[in-house]
Amino acid sequence: MKEPKTFYIKTYGCQMNELDSSVMAGMLSKRGLTECQVAKEADILLLNTCSIRDLAERKVMGTVGQYGRSKMREKIIGITGCMANAKKGGLFDKLPHVDFVLGTNNIHDLNAVLDEVISGSKSLRTDKLYTQEIDYESAKRINKFKAYVSIIRGCNKHCTYCVVPYTRGPEVSRTPESIVRECQKLVDEGYQEITLLGQNVNSYGKDKPEWSTLFHDLIYQLDKIEGMSRIRFLTSHPVDITRELMEAVRDLPSLCEHVHFPLQAGSDRILRKMHRIYTKAEYMEKVALLKELVPGVALGTDMIVGFPTETDEEFQESYDAMREVEYATAFLYTYSPRKGTPATRWKDDVPEPVKSERHKRVLTLHSEISTKLMREMLGSTVEVLVERRNKDRRYLKGSTRCFRNVIFEGDDSLIGTLQRVKLHSCSHQTFIGTLKTI
Ligand code: SAH
Ligand code: SF4
Ligand code: F3S
Repeated sequence: MKEPKTFYIKTYGCQMNELDSSVMAGMLSKRGLTECQVAKEADILLLNTCSIRDLAERKVMGTVGQYGRSKMREKIIGITGCMANAKKGGLFDKLPHVDFVLGTNNIHDLNAVLDEVISGSKSLRTDKLYTQEIDYESAKRINKFKAYVSIIRGCNKHCTYCVVPYTRGPEVSRTPESIVRECQKLVDEGYQEITLLGQNVNSYGKDKPEWSTLFHDLIYQLDKIEGMSRIRFLTSHPVDITRELMEAVRDLPSLCEHVHFPLQAGSDRILRKMHRIYTKAEYMEKVALLKELVPGVALGTDMIVGFPTETDEEFQESYDAMREVEYATAFLYTYSPRKGTPATRWKDDVPEPVKSERHKRVLTLHSEISTKLMREMLGSTVEVLVERRNKDRRYLKGSTRCFRNVIFEGDDSLIGTLQRVKLHSCSHQTFIGTLKTI
């Protein structure tokens, strides 16, 4: 096979995949290949996949299946990401036109795998453990103002419904020196906002006690970088949200006042069955402390409805908890059984119509709460990172520290800067404001 010249990457799933895709784009660009925006035009097709729910996997199987029935099958087709680890060589059986399967812990092997494919063989690499640091600093980022920075890979929590500990392996923290160096470089290049990423970002450092650097220690180091405007983090586990971290949100100028605090369920029996390792009371105590230390903090959650054996009353506890906490952001899911996870021991016994009814109810509740919280902010002046012009070109669009979208009139020269904007109305989860010039 000839050396390919162009590549196309389609990314599914979460922010970790988005970052891994930019790293792979960087590696292929270094090899001299050019990225295409359209699959048809590329010599290599990379599908960076997600396994979190059945629907995510079905989308990929559908797309790659279609490639197999068209001329696209003649291109080099690679499956990377979580499905690579979840399905391994089984992918070749179902999709014989796939050339390589590269797991989440083998990204550094991408070019070697490509060499194997060019020389005529299929390639499969899906290590359980992340052992070799990938080349984050050559990542090819599209956004010029906001960057993801990986600080820890993998997850040790083993929630019973979740496939991530199997697809990403155990936790491995990245050295503070390497993280600080990358963040410094990004700030020097003009990045205004850095989102620290991990499946369990706030258990950072626990796997490396000899470093004596826990998550909040790392953030204190990053806040000191000259010119660092905003730091966020995703995704956190409530058990590892410490008082020290809450104080950092209160005290550090760069750390945004938005904390993802995923509850998942409001009933203690379901939380236990999910292996979330906190009770609702412990969770609520932490939320109360955070709200006390950081008045006005915006909270985010993930919730799963229809977990095996969840009764109407237990669902109601999730609903009531959402009403009590008043989350600004919420990702709400119906339970999807994942092969190989402990929860598949239990029958997926909440009927689909009940699941979808519960889902609709929490979606409606969340939209009411979110609108109420937004109305409470009207009249205030907030910091906005101006990112681009909106679709109809009339307004500039940006985001607040608490993760809300804002549009306002202004000049293109403001793109990429932080501005003060007075919020005067809101519609469809977006604020409309006016630029404050002094
Ligand atoms: N590490 C993050 C979550 C990553 S997965 C955390 O612990 O918060 C993102 C979300 O997908 C989870 O929070 C959970 O709400 C949802 N999820 C995970 N597995 C699921 C499953 N089997 N069915 C439905 N939702 C699931
Ligand atoms: Fe999955 Fe739980 Fe780990 Fe989050 S903490 S990635 S939900 S196992
Ligand atoms: Fe999906 Fe893997 Fe992320 S399962 S949500 S791509 S960690």
